[in-house]
Amino acid sequence: MQKITKVVIPAAGFGTRFLPATKANPKEMLPIVDKPVIQYAAEEAVAAGIKDIIFIIGRNKQSIEDHFDKAYELEAELAAKQKTLLIDSVQAIVPSFVNCIFIRQPTALGLGHAIHCARPVISNEPFAIILPDDLIDSDSCGCLSQMMDIYNQTGKSVLAVERVKGPEISKYGVIEIENFEDRLGKIKTIVEKPPFESAPSDLGVVGRYILSYKVMEILGRLPPGSGGEIQLTDGISELLKLEDINAFEFYGTRFDCGSKLGFLKANIALGTKSGEVGESLISWIKEQKF
Ligand code: UTP
Repeated sequence: MQKITKVVIPAAGFGTRFLPATKANPKEMLPIVDKPVIQYAAEEAVAAGIKDIIFIIGRNKQSIEDHFDKAYELEAELAAKQKTLLIDSVQAIVPSFVNCIFIRQPTALGLGHAIHCARPVISNEPFAIILPDDLIDSDSCGCLSQMMDIYNQTGKSVLAVERVKGPEISKYGVIEIENFEDRLGKIKTIVEKPPFESAPSDLGVVGRYILSYKVMEILGRLPPGSGGEIQLTDGISELLKLEDINAFEFYGTRFDCGSKLGFLKANIALGTKSGEVGESLISWIKEQKF
């Protein structure tokens, strides 16, 4: 079984749901407490044993490259002022044994197209995907680490899923499954954003995937799908015709930080856990008469 050492983190979308904040700033750089949301994705990847992080970026996304680069002047300034904790926090963004690779998606043609932009770096090997918008907070190990365990047991592609209540399901890729036991099952079909009435289940796909490289060949020849975009879900649907794919209901809480409500919830949930401001935030919330 081939080991998974590479993750693709797509970050070339326009982030229109966050305008005007995202007019000149990438939504992936919006902070959750004191770290940009994309840093949580990189940390989850590193914790899962990833060695190469492939960021897909576009115009106006230079600050993502800068964030994962060394900041000599800043570190020198902090060193001169003996602010060692801050130096540590800046240097620990990505460990030195992890490579950060940046690839441009010239036009935002959809998530499937963004993933296909990593094709030259993904040879014939399985790889992971983390959508940085989906911040997953788990008390045990991270979502991608949980999925790596499943992959290491089965050798098959695996998608993270969660149960979605009511009409919200029509905003997700939705799966039909057989024998869902111990949070794991074989996917029968997958469909992007089905109407609520015809959704095949309440299991929505969230932003974590481990996929066979064959999906790259498929994405290269896919026509645009839902919303006129090249959809990763359509690529996975084609991959299902060639190989088994498992769905795994991960342990943890997901925040959709690409939406305003999810972003605010993530800041509150992680803020209350912060050693620096957690207690004060909880006391403040208790005092409010919302
Ligand atoms: P989204 O559809 O949530 O991102 O894609 P978006 O298009 O930026 O958001 P809105 O709807 O306009 O607010 C999920 C992830 O895929 C990336 C996005 O940057 C985000 O991290 N993406 C999406 C790309 O990299 N390229 C694309 O063409 C589309």
